[in-house]
Amino acid sequence: MAFFLAVANRKGGVGKSTVAVMLAHALSVWGGKRVLMMDLDSQCNASLILLGGQGWSEARKANRTIADYFFDLFDGQSMHPKDYLIHGVGDVANGSGKPPKLSLLPGSLLLEDVQGELFLKQASQSNDPDVVASRVRGRLEQLLRRFEGSYDVVILDCAPGLSFAALAALKIADLVLVPFRPDYVSQLAVDRIALIIEGKRNLDDLEEIAVEDRRYVCLANYVREHNGRERTLIEEIALVHPMLDVQMPQRDGIANAFDWVSELQPIEQKYGNAIPDIKKLYDEIAPAIEARSSNG
Ligand SMILES: Nc1ncnc2c1ncn2[C@@H]1O[C@H](COP(=O)(O)OP(=O)(O)OP(=O)(O)O)[C@@H](O)[C@H]1O
Ligand SMILES: [Mg+2]
Repeated sequence: MAFFLAVANRKGGVGKSTVAVMLAHALSVWGGKRVLMMDLDSQCNASLILLGGQGWSEARKANRTIADYFFDLFDGQSMHPKDYLIHGVGDVANGSGKPPKLSLLPGSLLLEDVQGELFLKQASQSNDPDVVASRVRGRLEQLLRRFEGSYDVVILDCAPGLSFAALAALKIADLVLVPFRPDYVSQLAVDRIALIIEGKRNLDDLEEIAVEDRRYVCLANYVREHNGRERTLIEEIALVHPMLDVQMPQRDGIANAFDWVSELQPIEQKYGNAIPDIKKLYDEIAPAIEARSSNG
């Protein structure tokens, strides 16, 4: 069984795709894990980072995207989920100079249409909006789970906001990583997504679940050194929510995650001055995945 790791926050531009891709590289290169990245965002940033613009365009032409998978299923075609995956993606080599075991289910601009189509289908069978919504989400959960196949870790890069695909990802995730920027809006966004993940109505109810038993953990990103206001905000969020010890600084090497080059390079070269930060992040996340694998 694969470990499902969702990277989500309803707020945009907080580093979800960056963190998802850095972890995909770290887990496949340093951890030797078989990793599948699922791009659940119609902006398709994770796909662009892992395939480059031309590679993503080729995937679309070959009808190998998440939207093709759904549309083919709706059309009654019995394709296998693995027919939509692209293997050996990314521009980072493993220790032997080869592509690591990193695969991608490419994203699609049409993912919103897929969700709309599923919604209309369910709405024709029930007038109760709650029933319709939960059936759409349930169907997406079931279809996303079919990809776990031969992977150790499935990383779900979620769109900002709460699309059905994001809600399905939050539901199937063994762990949800919630990157945030230390500002006041982020605090509200973290509260909101935490309530959804744990199925609680308010923060008082959320407190019933011990912090160490929560299914999510927050990660401060874009943290500026010597900024007291940001430090206080992070501490305030950590009073209510589980928080990783590592904090990702604002750093060129992290922004490099977005630069795809056509030749494989060592991970140290790609991320430059951000390697120690990525290593700390990896060291905190990898044990959760190992614990789950050893429990079967
Ligand atoms: N710690 C960091 N240091 C420097 N740049 C960063 C850092 N984290 C993210 N960025 C940059 O910030 C921008 C937004 O990051 P990213 O696209 O990963 O956010 P996102 O949450 O996935 O956005 P969206 O909600 O649009 O999907 C990117 O240009 C990325 O390179
Ligand atoms: Mg993103």
